[in-house]
Amino acid sequence: MDPALARRVEDILANVRSKPGEPVGILPVLLRLETVIGSVPPDSIPLIAQALGATDAQVSGVLSYYPDLHTTSQGRHVVRVCSGEACLANHGSRVLRAVQDQLHVDVGDTTTGGRWTLEKVYCVGNCGVSPTILIDDVIYGRVAPEQVPGLLERHTEGKS
Ligand code: FES
Repeated sequence: MDPALARRVEDILANVRSKPGEPVGILPVLLRLETVIGSVPPDSIPLIAQALGATDAQVSGVLSYYPDLHTTSQGRHVVRVCSGEACLANHGSRVLRAVQDQLHVDVGDTTTGGRWTLEKVYCVGNCGVSPTILIDDVIYGRVAPEQVPGLLERHTEGKS
């Protein structure tokens, strides 16, 4: 592991306890890493496991279970395309294809330069107006593939 990254992880581990010796769960540590570093690098798993008295498998299990935790840094903007049942029934896969074509990335990838990350989600409770996409924290319903370029542009106008 990069020594600078190891120091940052150790600092987070040292500061996550409110009292010395207090037990700490795996999830709060991983969420803190995600917030501070922008991801939970796989290299940090043994360090976290050792500090918490857990196994690497336990830490990896929590890391892979929660969709808000990532092993690589995300782009400055995140587009999430819903692939839940209602969205798929309403041509959500065409919307996903339009996003992939526009950004030239696959699901889970980040564009060169780090502007966009593309993710799938599975129902965000917007089924009545599916298909749905989320761009950053904004939900869009009844999205047609032709609208995708404009919606993406809306989130990057005047920004990088
Ligand atoms: S299935 Fe997409 S919002 Fe529910």
